[in-house]
Amino acid sequence: MVERTFVMLKPDGVQRGLVGEIISRLERKGLKIVALKMIHLDRALAERQYEVHRGKHFFNELVEFVTSSPVVALVVEGEEAIKVVRKLMGATNPFEAEPGSIRGDFGLDLTKNLIHGSDSAETAKREIALFFREEELLDYDLSSEAWM
Ligand code: RTP
Ligand code: MG
Repeated sequence: MVERTFVMLKPDGVQRGLVGEIISRLERKGLKIVALKMIHLDRALAERQYEVHRGKHFFNELVEFVTSSPVVALVVEGEEAIKVVRKLMGATNPFEAEPGSIRGDFGLDLTKNLIHGSDSAETAKREIALFFREEELLDYDLSSEAWM
């Protein structure tokens, strides 16, 4: 099933110059970028994004981190996009993430783990709406689609 999912390149990805590398991995997999922007999250938006973690011991550290410097927010589309992006990301803890995954190849810190991806269809819907207006989501054909 073709799905849309929300992806965020976290501040460490931007600061380390990995934006191109990470987006390139999404593109090479065959995912279509349907929205993209750079944004410096304020505390309110970060807290809403990570609402499910409110009250956990790492919540404050997480919010401080994602608001510390700009991020890149994207919506990508493709077959099983939610699961596919989570696979490309690798396990939450970069120590456990498989080599070949984004966190497995580039991460060495549980908080600074480079990338966020929605974990379910409901989360994707909520997060996309949190970051993008309807008219910012583009509908277009990719010429490569016929070859995937
Ligand atoms: P994300 O939401 O960012 O895509 O990551 P995830 O689903 O793989 O992991 P999740 O459990 O949702 O945790 C959200 C983010 O919080 C940070 N974290 N820190 N210090 C800690 O114990 C801890 N645990 C999680 C990570 O940045 C994680 O991606
Ligand atoms: Mg999560």
